[in-house]
Amino acid sequence: MSMSLRQVGPCLAAEVDGLDLTRPLSPEAVAAIHAGMDTYAVLVFHDQKLDDEQQLVFTRSLGEIEHAIGTSLRAPDELRLPTTFADVSNLDKDQKVFARADRRRLFALGNRLWHSDSSFKAIPAKYSLLHARSVPSRGGNTEFADMRGAWDALDAETRAEVEDLVCEHSQIFSRQQLGFTDFTDEERARFAPVRQRLVRTHPVTGRRSLYLSSHAGTILGWPVPEARAFLRDLVEHATQRQFVYAHRWRVGDLVMWDNRQTMHRARPFPAHEPRDMRRTTLAGDGPTVAHAA
Ligand code: OGA
Ligand code: MN
Repeated sequence: MSMSLRQVGPCLAAEVDGLDLTRPLSPEAVAAIHAGMDTYAVLVFHDQKLDDEQQLVFTRSLGEIEHAIGTSLRAPDELRLPTTFADVSNLDKDQKVFARADRRRLFALGNRLWHSDSSFKAIPAKYSLLHARSVPSRGGNTEFADMRGAWDALDAETRAEVEDLVCEHSQIFSRQQLGFTDFTDEERARFAPVRQRLVRTHPVTGRRSLYLSSHAGTILGWPVPEARAFLRDLVEHATQRQFVYAHRWRVGDLVMWDNRQTMHRARPFPAHEPRDMRRTTLAGDGPTVAHAA
């Protein structure tokens, strides 16, 4: 059976049929997946019964893995999954659902804000691949917004204003928006801000996109409240419904998105129900700003 794509979102997102991700992919299939990502920025693969090893093999067939080290509040000896995975579940290492007020859970609620994965790292992520192992009885959708469409829809004056701006991103800024501020000194050092351009150009298609994320908390050279108000307006613009695809999860779905061209956010679900989602991430090519400091 050969691979086929069917667009499911307004200007991004396609479902892919005809691929079994547990099997080795031909070079043609790998090229077709990258081409699909360049066009749609989000690809959905249904009914993929992957275990951890198969998810890793599939991910590595597309590029180099970004490890998740020190990016959550789970201590190294509390990890449920190896660092080749970002554990997006609400489960501890004994597979128990986090208590409602668990600090690790509250920190992870930052995923409910629009963001781009690892924008808080100097070299931010390329693709994320999220696989659903168990899903709650209701809620828990993931929404994706097309940052190319958002750029295209800006007026010329705003484009000129944002074109060369550089922001600072940190998980401290995103959590601050939720009122989560009790970081230890060690965590503050670990989550030190990094710089990112506000406008990116896709290396293959040449399309421009707004590089927004709730991790962005300052614009270099701007007063902080003015920067925050401006970024908030841009996020509001970029996440209008005409730019958004909402994914309703089924067990076995694998959704892959391009963090360079999209933002995403998790939607709420009943806090006592397990939601086992496991993410592998492809490393980005390099920093978005030419130099540090
Ligand atoms: C992620 C993420 C959203 C969700 O995996 O990076 O933000 O719905 N997930 O779990
Ligand atoms: Mn994310």
